[in-house]
Amino acid sequence: MKRLLTVLALLLPAAALAGHELDNRDLRNGQVLYKEHCASCHGAELEGQPNWRRIGEDGLLPAPPHDATGHTWHHDNRLLFDYTKLGGKALMEARGVGGFKSGMEGFGDALTDDEIWDILAYIRSTWPDRIKRIQASRNPPHDR
Ligand code: HEC
Repeated sequence: MKRLLTVLALLLPAAALAGHELDNRDLRNGQVLYKEHCASCHGAELEGQPNWRRIGEDGLLPAPPHDATGHTWHHDNRLLFDYTKLGGKALMEARGVGGFKSGMEGFGDALTDDEIWDILAYIRSTWPDRIKRIQASRNPPHDR
């Protein structure tokens, strides 16, 4: 038991660090940029497109919601960032999955890294605390 507590104590600071890219971000800027660049597909209220789990006739997935009903919060910060920066196709290729037809282009040319983090922090700010905690726990401990 004592051992377990020691392990937990060691893990705690790491867990606190794990979601830190999204801390102290400019949420207002994130919201403005979200409306400008993401809302046309992911919805003004982050509600996504209808039937977002079903591939459409064009062979593409509709845009999923970014609110708590979607699965954005199932992913760690790094995946969300890379998905936004690279787009779906390049992200999948970078992770070894070829031939993925994505409905989302990368924003690496349109947005700076800080702007992408602001948008993701804005998206996170709309989630209930429970969901925020679950998402934070998906981040492997890291310093940068
Ligand atoms: C042209 C429509 C379109 C725009 C604009 C768009 N997306 Fe997407 N996005 C999609 C689609 C469609 C998917 C589903 C998977 C795929 O096709 O790649 C997706 C998936 C995602 C995912 C991964 C899956 C998930 O559940 O989170 C993230 C993260 C994401 N988008 C973030 C953004 C952000 C942030 C912006 C604005 C900077 C944005 N998207 C703008 C269409 C779009």
